[in-house]
Amino acid sequence: MSDIVAVILAAGKGTRMKSQVAKVLHPLAGIPMALHVLRAVQDAGVKRRIVVVGHQANDVKETLGEEFLYALQEKQLGTGHAVQQTVDLWPQEEGPMLVLCADTPLITAETIKNVVEQHRRSEAVCSVLTAQVPDSHGYGRIIRDDRGYVQKIVEEQDADKREKEIEEINTGCYCFSRNELGVALRRLKPSNAQGEYYLTDVVEFFQQQQMKVAAVELDDYRELQGINNRSQLAEAEKVMRRRINERLMLSGVTMVSPESTYIDVDTKIGEDTLIQPNTRIMGASVIAGGCEIGPDTTIQESIVGGNTTIANSVVKKSRIGVDCTIGPFSYLRPGTELCDGVKIGDFVEVKKSVIGDGTKIPHLTYIGDANIGKRVNVGAGTITCNYDGVNKWKTIIEDGAFIGSSTNLVAPIRISADAIIGAGSTITKDVPANSLAVARGRQKNIEERGRKTNTISKKEKNKEDM
Ligand code: UD1
Ligand code: CA
Repeated sequence: MSDIVAVILAAGKGTRMKSQVAKVLHPLAGIPMALHVLRAVQDAGVKRRIVVVGHQANDVKETLGEEFLYALQEKQLGTGHAVQQTVDLWPQEEGPMLVLCADTPLITAETIKNVVEQHRRSEAVCSVLTAQVPDSHGYGRIIRDDRGYVQKIVEEQDADKREKEIEEINTGCYCFSRNELGVALRRLKPSNAQGEYYLTDVVEFFQQQQMKVAAVELDDYRELQGINNRSQLAEAEKVMRRRINERLMLSGVTMVSPESTYIDVDTKIGEDTLIQPNTRIMGASVIAGGCEIGPDTTIQESIVGGNTTIANSVVKKSRIGVDCTIGPFSYLRPGTELCDGVKIGDFVEVKKSVIGDGTKIPHLTYIGDANIGKRVNVGAGTITCNYDGVNKWKTIIEDGAFIGSSTNLVAPIRISADAIIGAGSTITKDVPANSLAVARGRQKNIEERGRKTNTISKKEKNKEDM
């Protein structure tokens, strides 16, 4: 497939999205919609990919990256004009020339391969990928001649009543013979009052030159549904999510409820991991095998080791080791690193901290900017007071320390190995190894100052005696 060049049209504004963000950058299952198309083209074996950018060109280039060639279409004068801008980047020799739209992100590598193969086998100079759709409104309609070749493609606004009834539409994906496309593009004229150049007009030109245009019909039209507004974006998202879940389930991931499981396309999940309902795993997260994730859990850009359990929790940009237990109701914020066998329990928030092997933080705790060693026990209600209103300070707790419940650790502070902190302490000075630190008011018991509810009155006593 090394002779193939693909052009991906991504210069349009996408007015119907009503957005500050370029349409082709709107994310679908975690990556910009244009990237789905570019990856499908790559998976079909095509190396040379030219992206036509125009509207918000710099944003689009920056987001998609340097992997691709770019052609700038300064004014968006139509799909034909867009392809014209790429001609300088074409190789000299003849070969198949794919043209695809960046707003049809559900296209698969198989479909692209199929279009190219059928094109190579036919005598046509152009093969148009078409589909039968239940509602053809908005698409270019395919007019076939009596031999079944494509005679022309009529856009919605130019179609008469009879043409509008045609259910076979242009998906916007084509394979051309490069030299013929080059000639046709040079002849292209504006097609409407706005002076737009339609790529679809090259079909009529070929027809006039007695050259053949073939239609390659797609089985499932949903694969090429174009995204022009946010409702269509949500539809495509559904299809993409179903595909991702299907792939993961077939590779050994159990999903109790695939309908309520939202996994991004770049997320990896190992065998025998169980995903409970209402779970969302985002970005380039990696979940190893044998884990149980969810219910009601969001994991963003994080690495999770094998056999770890995470329930009802939110995890962002964190690294979690093997055999850990997280939740229910934990919040791991960016920069959290849990080693192996760590327990983080209910209503515990951890931020930018390293927690050593076997350490337990079971309830109601805030750990921020801390470095905690191995086998430490952090009692309920412990707070690292890491912020003095201006700066953030570090808390260091060494191996084997025991932090009593309801302790305030005023940073910067170091609790050395095997130290014990008495419950309810506010610790402001470093604690040496192996010592007990208590920092709280002494208890006073004042007699006869209680509520007296236990002192039974004479009257009641009499009643009881009766
Ligand atoms: C186009 C086709 C239509 C087809 C439909 C499939 C034409 C004239 N019409 O219509 O037959 O059924 O796609 O989805 O080709 N773009 C540019 N530069 C431009 C204009 C558009 O790069 O000047 C890009 C857009 O970013 C988009 C793609 O081309 O990715 C399609 O443009 P769009 O305006 O969505 O075309 P449709 O009206 O959907
Ligand atoms: Ca479109």
